[in-house]
Amino acid sequence: MQERLQKIISQAGIASRRAAEQLIAAGRVTVDGRVATLGEKADPAVQSIAVDGKPLPRAERHVYYLLHKPTGYISTARDERGRRTVLDLLPEVRERIYPVGRLDGDTSGLLLITNDGTLMNGLLHPRYEVSKTYVAQVAGQVTEQSLEQLRRGLQLEDGMTAPAKARLLGSRGGLSKVEVTIHEGRNRQVRRMFSAIGCDVRKLKRVRFAFLSLKDVAVGQHRPLTPKEVDRLYQLAGIVRQGDKE
Ligand code: URA
Repeated sequence: MQERLQKIISQAGIASRRAAEQLIAAGRVTVDGRVATLGEKADPAVQSIAVDGKPLPRAERHVYYLLHKPTGYISTARDERGRRTVLDLLPEVRERIYPVGRLDGDTSGLLLITNDGTLMNGLLHPRYEVSKTYVAQVAGQVTEQSLEQLRRGLQLEDGMTAPAKARLLGSRGGLSKVEVTIHEGRNRQVRRMFSAIGCDVRKLKRVRFAFLSLKDVAVGQHRPLTPKEVDRLYQLAGIVRQGDKE
């Protein structure tokens, strides 16, 4: 992300913002080897910035991936019991990444992976209510009355759920397929919501997270987010990026 040079220099602890402006004005700051001018912006993750020829430490580049998680992988960065984790599915990524929230081991679907803690915390904050859509396959025939309970909100042991969107996609072979959209992220929430209406979830898949879908990403595969997608996520998470303020 591009930021004003004086801000980058002060955040690196080299000088106050004011003093950094003076360093730039005095021609003592370079960006990729070229003398910088006051008012210039740069991206410390990809450009080399130096003061008096001494490079600032390079910030770790932020990376963002959309993963199509298969079942059988847990959503933590490391597991003491040696179980497979979602990070095993991104072996080429060298940054210290972690999943944004969790999907159960037996849930498949869309999981964001990043090393951007600011964005992760924003997206997980209940205030911003990022929507998450799941398709559940449940045993038996689900009725409109029971779906209405999901829509109204129902009592779980950790409190009432917020109203959800729920619609029956179809029923076949003793299973009903239901699409549910929630804005919360409690532990095993969708399974517990179905359990509260007397339905047993046999399969659960997250098909959307905010505006993102699994389009063109096969099970077990991942793709980087585009800069536009990252910008939209920042907006949804209610975060003003430092480089955007000035
Ligand atoms: N709700 C669940 O019950 N499980 C998940 O993995 C995600 C949401």
